[in-house]
Amino acid sequence: MLNILRGDITACEVDAIVNAANNSLLGGGGVDGAIHRAAGPKLLEECRTLGGCETGQAKITRGYDLPAKWVIHVVGPVWQGGGHNEEALLASCYKNALRLAGEKGLSRIAFPSVSTGVYRFPLELAAPIALRTILAENKKWASLEELFMVCFNEATERAYKNAHVILEGI
Ligand code: AR6
Repeated sequence: MLNILRGDITACEVDAIVNAANNSLLGGGGVDGAIHRAAGPKLLEECRTLGGCETGQAKITRGYDLPAKWVIHVVGPVWQGGGHNEEALLASCYKNALRLAGEKGLSRIAFPSVSTGVYRFPLELAAPIALRTILAENKKWASLEELFMVCFNEATERAYKNAHVILEGI
């Protein structure tokens, strides 16, 4: 089941939250900064051992002081006008995040809207890509039960809810 809701992902009591990180995996602004602040310094310590992450890929760490047990770090593409494989790379983030969750047998996963902040991916394009990928990949992993798209502001919530209605109608 997929729920689209407004909230702060750092407060989500789920098995894993997804982080919209950068290639270094060493923290930053936006949701990444919020997750590192809430998880505490041990998260950065573990991230330092990972050797970064390629765009479109995902790596998993513990959640430390977060209510979530795990953090799945993905690196979304920076929007460069759409001609640099951005759509496929964004889909790949959601796909790889769910693969790591499925391989670990996790059941409740919360996602932020990857790439639509600092990385400037247009929300109206990102929302259907994210939801389509989540709904398709979800079926591949038996452990997955509840998925949450956690929208930090009203525009994000509206874009994902609209995209969901359109996808359900297809
Ligand atoms: N809970 C849920 N969503 C949030 C939260 C939160 N606590 N805080 C922000 N958002 P962004 P990106 C939303 O910029 O575009 C970082 O510096 C935000 O409103 O966090 O993938 C990294 O280190 C937006 O809808 O991620 C990278 O350098 C969404 O999260 C870079 O930003 C994503 O915005 C990644 O950029």
